[in-house]
Amino acid sequence: LWTAENIIDDLVVRVREQVGSGKVLLGLSGGVDSSVVAALLHKAIGDQLTCVFVDNGLLRKNEGDQVMATFAQNMGVKVIRADAEDLFLGKLKGISDPEEKRKVIGHTFIEVFDAEATKLKDVHFLAQGTIYPDVIESAAAKTGKAHVIKSHHNVGGLPDDMAMELVEPLRELFKDEVRRIGVALGLPHDMVYRHPFPGPGLGVRILGEVKKEYADILREADAIFMEELYKSGWYHKVNQAFVVFLPVKSVGVVGDGRRYEWVVALRAVETIDFMTARWAHLPYELIERVSNRIINSIEGISRVAYDVSSKPPATIEWE
Ligand code: XMP
Repeated sequence: LWTAENIIDDLVVRVREQVGSGKVLLGLSGGVDSSVVAALLHKAIGDQLTCVFVDNGLLRKNEGDQVMATFAQNMGVKVIRADAEDLFLGKLKGISDPEEKRKVIGHTFIEVFDAEATKLKDVHFLAQGTIYPDVIESAAAKTGKAHVIKSHHNVGGLPDDMAMELVEPLRELFKDEVRRIGVALGLPHDMVYRHPFPGPGLGVRILGEVKKEYADILREADAIFMEELYKSGWYHKVNQAFVVFLPVKSVGVVGDGRRYEWVVALRAVETIDFMTARWAHLPYELIERVSNRIINSIEGISRVAYDVSSKPPATIEWE
């Protein structure tokens, strides 16, 4: 019988069998999948689990504080917050190709994990929030059955010389199952039912070269969009929504002055499987409110566009 409780009991047993008394390191991204793994492993092996939350400078506003509050303060999970913003932004300097950016971000994640694991001493296991669709997608990519559209850095991107064995308890589960497990494990509803956020984060939502200035502006705009989506009840009517930073300048007016600032695009989609998606028909009043708030409160933005592209032929992310 499929109940969240049964699945959790089964996974707990399997995790204990796999890791014994070994130490496990988990990269906690704040996304649904790694959050559920954290809660599950905390239940299964308690203090044998250490999470590393990497602040790569490509997170949404307040994301780091929220993750620390949920896991470290409320649940008593051991979480190390690795401040790696400078490292990531340094490595991304001068790189504008989307796949190249994904690779750099993926490798830098591994580098930071490895460094933390070494500091912890005797960590033999690396846990990951890989879920069934990730497995299928990367298997298809490996056998050449599917065109590799985007490389998902949490599968198959690990260096061969990595000393740790993988623990991937969600490998056989679909997203809705992972969410039900998350709720049953006591994670906050908003965390479990949040939209997916790509591993490379704002790195693929800042088109072209990533800069701190752009990330800071994008974080503010994204926070306004999210807040208005929640307030209007639209957050859960769409399946993914975000703001994209376009490194393009556009003219605007403020009072008597002219300003020449950046452009952002709002993206919201309705989708079941993320393989196809329709742009969300958000109410004009909502788009208007978001646009006004963004332009009026964020100095670096002079224009807001709304993305009316569906997938295919467009992808959900812009990169
Ligand atoms: P696309 O843009 O391919 O996105 O239509 C489909 C879904 O996948 C997410 N996505 C990613 N997730 N690493 C991830 O972990 C990535 O590199 C990546 N690229 C896209 C995207 O946010 C959407 O939910």
